[in-house]
Amino acid sequence: MTVKKRVLVLHGPNLNLLGVREPGIYGSTTLEEINRSLAVLAAESGVEIRTLQSNSEGALVDAIQGAMDDCQGILINPAAYTHTSVALRDAIAATGLPAVEVHLSNIHSREAFRQHSYIAPVAVGQICGFGPDSYLLGLRALIKRLEK
Ligand code: DQA
Repeated sequence: MTVKKRVLVLHGPNLNLLGVREPGIYGSTTLEEINRSLAVLAAESGVEIRTLQSNSEGALVDAIQGAMDDCQGILINPAAYTHTSVALRDAIAATGLPAVEVHLSNIHSREAFRQHSYIAPVAVGQICGFGPDSYLLGLRALIKRLEK
């Protein structure tokens, strides 16, 4: 029997408001719709996902630490914590798990403060600017990485 690989999918602060939040930047797709399309892709790929959105940095750190027990990779949109959080970066580094950073918007074409990511140096890679497809591309890339 082969044991299914499991990926932790994390959404940072304010992403619970997707669909109504600044639709000109983030689009009209809700977080629930994104999670549903990730679940479909995961099922097609024979991978399990565990999904969490939190507005709290500590809860995200706890979830990342928890992934050490039963996940093989992390897909994360750290949202605003991308640009501020040494704690999230350290947690990802501590797990030693491959992490893919995703963003709906192209953070490199926005305000200067969004152009620096504390997460990117400890991630396998970063995908941004493709709206909800950033998540799907990120999950695909992570799954390929896990198959290596
Ligand atoms: C974001 C980009 C961040 O700069 C911002 O704080 C977010 C969303 C994105 O997905 O484009 O909350 O991570």
